[in-house]
Amino acid sequence: MDGGDRRMSSAQERWSYRWGPLPSSVAPYVPTPIQVVRRMLELAEAGEDDVVYDLGCGDGRILFTAVEEFGVKKAVGYELNASMCESIMRRVRERGLEGRIEVVNGNLFLADLREASIVTLYLTTSGNSKLRPKLEEELRPGARVVSHDFPIRGWRTVKGGYPDHYSYGTHRIYVYRVPDAFRIVYEDSGDDRWRRLREIFLRLERGNRD
Ligand SMILES: C[S@@+](CC[C@H](N)C(=O)[O-])C[C@H]1O[C@@H](n2cnc3c(N)ncnc32)[C@H](O)[C@@H]1O
Repeated sequence: MDGGDRRMSSAQERWSYRWGPLPSSVAPYVPTPIQVVRRMLELAEAGEDDVVYDLGCGDGRILFTAVEEFGVKKAVGYELNASMCESIMRRVRERGLEGRIEVVNGNLFLADLREASIVTLYLTTSGNSKLRPKLEEELRPGARVVSHDFPIRGWRTVKGGYPDHYSYGTHRIYVYRVPDAFRIVYEDSGDDRWRRLREIFLRLERGNRD
């Protein structure tokens, strides 16, 4: 077992301990059109200070666009398909982008997201739900999560209102900012619970007086 395998296996133990069975593939390969990739990165306000993680990176188009067009510091992809990873690494070498683009041929649920300032997703709604607790635990304040076509249930987008997503043709783009995406939702639900309790209390009080 080399260092990388050992890191993966301890990440796997940590996942199982915290969240149960490790999910495997959560989406088939369907590429995001390049104009939608650009719009996603614009909405995430990607720039030179950012580290972008594309979880399920396919052919690496988000990684290359982030580095070559938006000048981000680093882009990291996780992908189960080995031949796609090899082809990305070949292009990285051809373009001299070693150190700026990394790809891990492994399960995205085992990625360490603590250094990510932007996470991009094109998975499924149920895949996003499985990932949600990890995003909430590992992402730093200020990090953005941009999801193509599928929302993260229980989170609130930066757009708010209706609709809660941006559109590019028929494509939907959901943009979230950590921790507002989930802190406000939880605080609201706390308020709701408190308001409901207060109403019950007032009704009981009135009942006792009448
Ligand atoms: C819909 S494609 C998106 C590709 C790319 N992000 C894009 O937007 O063009 C989803 C990709 O996620 C990969 N994938 C699905 N589940 C995965 C997992 N558990 N770990 C790593 N990759 C995964 C699939 O192999 C597929 O290439």
